Amino acid sequence: MPVIAVLGAQWGDEGKGKVVDQLAAEARMVIRFSGGDNAGHTVINAHGEFKLHLVPSGIFSQATCLIGNGVVINPARLIEEVDQLNKRGIDTSRLVISDRAHLVMPYHLLLDGLEEESRADRAIGTTKRGIGPAFTDKVARMGIRAGDLLDQKAFKYRLQSVLDYKNTILTRVYGVSPLSLEEIYGQYCQYGERLAPHIKETTTLIREALVRDDYILLEGAQGALLDPDFGTYPYTTSSSPLSGGACLGAGINPKQIDRILGVFKAYCTRVGSGPMPTELHDEVGQAIRERAHEYGTTTGRPRRCGWFDAVAAAFSSQINGFTGMVITRLDVLDTLPGLKICTGYRLNGKTIGYFPASIADLEKCQPIYEELPGWQTETSHIREFARLPAEARRYVNRLEELSGCPANIICVGPSREQTIQVRPVI
Ligand code: GDP
Ligand code: IMO
Ligand code: MG
Repeated sequence: MPVIAVLGAQWGDEGKGKVVDQLAAEARMVIRFSGGDNAGHTVINAHGEFKLHLVPSGIFSQATCLIGNGVVINPARLIEEVDQLNKRGIDTSRLVISDRAHLVMPYHLLLDGLEEESRADRAIGTTKRGIGPAFTDKVARMGIRAGDLLDQKAFKYRLQSVLDYKNTILTRVYGVSPLSLEEIYGQYCQYGERLAPHIKETTTLIREALVRDDYILLEGAQGALLDPDFGTYPYTTSSSPLSGGACLGAGINPKQIDRILGVFKAYCTRVGSGPMPTELHDEVGQAIRERAHEYGTTTGRPRRCGWFDAVAAAFSSQINGFTGMVITRLDVLDTLPGLKICTGYRLNGKTIGYFPASIADLEKCQPIYEELPGWQTETSHIREFARLPAEARRYVNRLEELSGCPANIICVGPSREQTIQVRPVI
């Protein structure tokens, strides 16, 4: 059985949660490999509607759900999420947390807010979940990991030295009050006791699953254009949502990944700041936002909406090595008389076909559009590709051509069954 990565191909919120929930029905293991509770994955299935931030979207299936080493975990938020799921009758006993996963600490949350404030009109528009500061500490070798909670004495020793440093920054740079060692220590020891049964050395579990030839899903968070290397830096997140990030954040080697599915919306959205060449500031953008209720799952902020950007899509496909596309929210376009796809950019009087590294250049890029007719027919009840209106099939085919990979799945609504299987994933 295969290992399949399900990845965000644009700026996040493409519908990864829905796709993972659907595929997980057959899977034996689902691994979240990046981000933290900045992610908000919506799942709508027979159990109801759920917004997951840290718990993998496979939790409704029989699969072992693993939070990988590449995720940063706010333990308070994780416990809250688990409690909410349990209250609604969802069994979370199959949840496993990598002992190598880093923790979001109270000073990370504080610093995320303070750093954003100090950026003023250049603020990134982060989710203020402490994600950037937590990944910064990981790389700076100042992080505290889930496994550290299992040895309270060593944890206190480590926390003390890190907190001394953080309190210096908080008081001397930002002029705010220092945080209390005893308070954080006490609180995190409680979290540790609660989470201890779930915290494990996960590479062994993964190796055993691979030896059994289990079906494994790697659940991405965020999207390729938020990658710190290839996204619109510095308006990005702080961990890699790419297929390469899946290897590092789960502990799976590149040879072991069989399929890489890129999840794309049939148009583009973005939350937070940073360039987005096809953003619509007119009534079409407004119409898409209202029809699709494009408001952030984690922060409730309105999402910026725009036409499908095929330059960005081809770039995303290239750096991820997509073997197939999942196109979500096709139904959102049902009412529009005409559609546009961006096939190139005009930059300084020249036509370019690549996604520039410089945000100054990207901000100047004028999209070159190809226009296609709309279908102006309801599609949310359709379950076969051949039954889609001809204009919708043509639109999908054009996205496939321009992105350079075939569509496996098309989604025409938020619930699990509102799905068209175009080609088998496995
Ligand atoms: P994720 O972060 O990639 O999991 O995506 P989010 O959950 O943040 O945002 C995707 C939104 O689109 C959610 O509200 C989903 O319920 C919804 N959704 C997913 N697929 C479809 C679809 O095909 N049509 C419509 N109308 N909504 C969809
Ligand atoms: P899912 O998994 C959409 C964006 C934020 C901000 C930037 C940096 O639901 O697709 P951060 O808090 O990570 O430091 O914020 O990244 N961002 C997301 N946008 N979906 C997400 O996750 C996101 N996670 C982070 O809005 O622009
Ligand atoms: Mg989301």
